[in-house]
Amino acid sequence: MKKLDTQTVSVAKRGSLLVVTIDNPPVNALSHSVRAGLLEAVNALESDADARAMVIICKGRTFIAGADIHEFKRPMQAPLLGEVIERLDAATKPIVAAIHGTALGGGLEVALACSYRIALDQARVGFPEVKLGILPGSGGSVRLPRLIGVAPALTMISEGGQISARDACDKGLIDAVVSEDLEAAAISFTEKLVAEGAKVCRVSALPVPGFDPAVFDTSRAMLSKKYKGFRAPLVAVDLMKMVTETPFAEAIASEYKVCKDLLVSPQSRALRHIFAAEREALNVAGVGADLRPRDVRRVAIVGPGTMGRGIACCFQNAGIPVILIGRSDDSLASAVKAIRKIHEANVKRGGITADEMERRMALLTTATSYEAVADVDLVIEAVTEELNVKKDIFARLDAVLRKDAIIATNTSFLDIEELAASSADPSRVAGMHFFNPAHVMKLLENVRALKTAPDVLATTTALGKRLGKVPVMAGRSEGFIANRMLSKRTREAQFLLEDGATPQQVDRVLTAFGFPIGPFALADLAGMDIMAAARAARVARMSPREQRCNIVDRLVAAGRLGQKSSAGYYAYDESRKPSHAPEVDMLLEAYRSEYGLAARAITDEEILERCLYAMVNEAAKILEEGGAARPGDIDVIWTNGFGFPTYLGGPMFYADAVGLPRVKEALDKYSELVGEPFFKPAPLIERLVAEGRGFYG
Ligand code: CAA
Repeated sequence: MKKLDTQTVSVAKRGSLLVVTIDNPPVNALSHSVRAGLLEAVNALESDADARAMVIICKGRTFIAGADIHEFKRPMQAPLLGEVIERLDAATKPIVAAIHGTALGGGLEVALACSYRIALDQARVGFPEVKLGILPGSGGSVRLPRLIGVAPALTMISEGGQISARDACDKGLIDAVVSEDLEAAAISFTEKLVAEGAKVCRVSALPVPGFDPAVFDTSRAMLSKKYKGFRAPLVAVDLMKMVTETPFAEAIASEYKVCKDLLVSPQSRALRHIFAAEREALNVAGVGADLRPRDVRRVAIVGPGTMGRGIACCFQNAGIPVILIGRSDDSLASAVKAIRKIHEANVKRGGITADEMERRMALLTTATSYEAVADVDLVIEAVTEELNVKKDIFARLDAVLRKDAIIATNTSFLDIEELAASSADPSRVAGMHFFNPAHVMKLLENVRALKTAPDVLATTTALGKRLGKVPVMAGRSEGFIANRMLSKRTREAQFLLEDGATPQQVDRVLTAFGFPIGPFALADLAGMDIMAAARAARVARMSPREQRCNIVDRLVAAGRLGQKSSAGYYAYDESRKPSHAPEVDMLLEAYRSEYGLAARAITDEEILERCLYAMVNEAAKILEEGGAARPGDIDVIWTNGFGFPTYLGGPMFYADAVGLPRVKEALDKYSELVGEPFFKPAPLIERLVAEGRGFYG
């Protein structure tokens, strides 16, 4: 096999075929060396009179997974992908792409520039560019509709989903699907083509098939709702419209320009930042890349309440047997019923088959005795947030668990060190903080205690990935990263009510910013009794102003528990549609007059700044204390756990975009207006501003 100069691409002669192998771990991205290698390979095909056709295949876990996104930060080195694709398309002999793993973005563009595509049945293909705030820029948007039709192509490009090889075959995107030995199958497929005298088959030569022009308006309406705030999906509609109206070569040039413009847009920068930050979050300090996580083959969950049920679903969905421990057969029976309901809803939505649901349910067992956990690899306690209850459970687990089993707590606020100290072996204790509903929310806030063993940290991180979550490691701190920051936003939202804002105004400002739900609508969803209990647990440690601000308790006393009682900050009708509640205005007026507080007109800007900068300031303190390893971890937590718009990159990235000097100026202003204890700029912010830097340098 001849290695080309680029080292990542090699060419071997197999009879009358050239077999080009790309080997650029981890995902065979189209780095400069791969682009150059592919160009050389086409030149080799054209200049070798004996070569009749070529196969492109990849080593490792996947076909080309797209452009090398690390190269986006600097000017691209020639040859650009567009040039490589043009050469593939212009080849005078057939080229076959042999796909396994995922052919994504530029990888799929390479495949579309080939004459034929053959794939393993497990393979998937897609254009995920939109998730990075860009669109295919090397012919993907121009070729795909010619091959599969305008409407399906628009769906793939504007939403960024992946489709299976079989689906792609049905759509005409892939020519053959095989179940094993892709290389042998691709070679025999290509030899047959050659033997039959098959010619090159250029997608670029195909016309755009007929389509319903209404597709553009309906897609635009659907996308602006489903991807509110995101720019690229809507640009995809305009791009596709242009492709249907423009000759191929011109469309290619316009497509490139659209992608290039998007690449330098703030949204793309933010989305690429989150992509990188989610992966960086997997690097946990003190956990070497070669440290093996412990095997997790069986788990137990203590506590069959809402959280325990959702967490059990996560393990079932990942194919891991799970034992649910509860105090009574009755509580366990209703938990199993509720878990089944969650899976049934999934079947109804078409997410899984009824058989698959039964397979998942078969992974779940229940027990009332702790003896049942004797052989599990990991236990997650998900009981009520009471330190003594949890400590008691830890002691009972210690008595029955294997020595190498891990004890994880789902606590969101309690002191991880105190909990760890209550086990005879604190090195086996860690936090795994899931978010409600646990089977839906992507975020997993793992927590390390001082003595947690590195391989336990490696295990909770690896397990998070296995469960399909986005795991982030937090350190000791009240409320860790997520809830500690949230509590500051909650505080400001309450203070804003004191100062004269309405729940509607605050919610409107935060949803207009991009959050899916405002803090007051969220409180109504969570339940005012839950909010009041959380407040009661912390009230002794609160400032006098926070202690006084007991609006939540007053709502509970008025029977306004939120959606569950059809009345909270809002009034709710039978279909849970919220409307303005004059009773809340009266309750707030009574509260203010009781303490002699004057309501004033509050601007939207003040609401946004107070809610966001209170969190950013707290995050800076968390960073400085070591509760978070890097600002990116905080951004990942807020985009995955609380719907902070990913196209703004998370609170830290957003603060840098606003400019830390401006953030500090606002903090100084609110220190005077609201009170220094709440807004005094964190020392880290002071220092970064003095040094002319941001969180990201
Ligand atoms: N470029 C460079 N590195 C990439 C990459 C890419 N396109 N995609 C993934 N990687 C890296 C990751 O950063 C990670 O590196 P580390 O181990 O050093 O952190 C490693 O590959 C593995 O990635 P994952 O942890 O995500 O692995 P996975 O198995 O869970 O998923 C994947 C694999 C499905 C390919 C996933 O990584 C993915 O979706 N990647 C992005 C694909 C993409 O967006 N492609 C389009 C790029 S834009 C484009 O192609 C158009 C254009 O020309 C402008």
